[in-house]
Amino acid sequence: MTPSEHVEMPSMGTGMVGGDRPPAFGRAKIDERFKDLNDPFREVPDDTEVDSQGLLDDANIDEVLDRLDQELVALKDVKGRIHEIASLLLIDRLRRGIGLEADAPTLHMSFTGNPGTGKTTVAMRMAKVLHKLGYLRKGHLVSVTRDDLVGQYVGHTAPKTRAVLERAMGGVLFIDEAYHIYRVDNERDYGQETVELLLEVMEKDRADLVVIMAGYKQQMNRFFSDVPGLSSRIAHHIDFPDYAPDELMAIAHLMLERERYRFAPDAETAFEDYLRIRASQPRFANGRSVRNALDRLRMRHAIRVHESAAKGRRLTKKDLITIEAEDVHKSRVFDSGFYRDDERAAPSLTGTAT
Ligand SMILES: Nc1ncnc2c1ncn2[C@@H]1O[C@H](COP(=O)(O)OP(=O)(O)O)[C@@H](O)[C@H]1O
Ligand SMILES: [Mg+2]
Repeated sequence: MTPSEHVEMPSMGTGMVGGDRPPAFGRAKIDERFKDLNDPFREVPDDTEVDSQGLLDDANIDEVLDRLDQELVALKDVKGRIHEIASLLLIDRLRRGIGLEADAPTLHMSFTGNPGTGKTTVAMRMAKVLHKLGYLRKGHLVSVTRDDLVGQYVGHTAPKTRAVLERAMGGVLFIDEAYHIYRVDNERDYGQETVELLLEVMEKDRADLVVIMAGYKQQMNRFFSDVPGLSSRIAHHIDFPDYAPDELMAIAHLMLERERYRFAPDAETAFEDYLRIRASQPRFANGRSVRNALDRLRMRHAIRVHESAAKGRRLTKKDLITIEAEDVHKSRVFDSGFYRDDERAAPSLTGTAT
């Protein structure tokens, strides 16, 4: 019997099983006809067709990637990396479907960049993509910092870290400001235990857990040089640059649209001015500062519209959705020489600008 006699084309949806949950990566069922073959290269003819379209449709991965491209401004390199990872997993899945076994690729990552550059947002998207592609069983994201992992007393750290790891299994463990876990100058710091457990799990359970470490680039680099074996376990180091002024405006538009507001034309210019000044001040946090500024704008808009209604003016839909330049200009950011931590201050109801 020649190989072509007992080998047919694999069925639809290679590597996929029914239901909405794809099988965990690395455990995808190999087509029955190939399961006893120990040398698929020899037994499966090279022109065996695989149902790539079926897998693409099934995982609706194109849709997920398109949404990612549309719903996130800029981040060209970051998006490029996600597309690359998606291709890798997709092709790996097809290979597995015809019995070409290989180790699941390691997908631990580090996301470096300043606050508000989209690290947490992208990590959540990443978890979804990895789930869609069958790499992660659950695709949830568990976000932690040092305090969630490291205990304050002897004996507390290991159980604490293990509980977090357990919760994250099948999904993404996102460790914000990961370098705080480990204090190299303090030998008795319990963080060391956490690091050791992490290193172990990142190796042993790498097919069932993706660890993403996030934080400032310089501190992360120092962390990697302080902890041997950590950087080599991380497959993707991804940088999140600060946004340019036009990108911050695009983020603002996206957020406003989502909340069903819009800028009046001169409010648009006013907000550009606002961002330029705010970006030059301390603690500017990219997308987060845009979001916070818009929250305060909504508050000032509401106060203005409320007051005009109280004076007997009839309101239209336009009133309810339009942010005017005066709403923007009431920000304290425009008071020359004045700075205070605008980020956390709530606008007061007496109309005091923030
Ligand atoms: N590229 C982007 N497009 C749209 N919104 C963004 C983008 N980057 C950040 N944001 C928004 O800015 C805010 C802060 O982002 P986040 O992911 O929390 O940043 P980080 O984790 O890097 O501090 C969120 O509301 C997020 O939706
Ligand atoms: Mg974050």
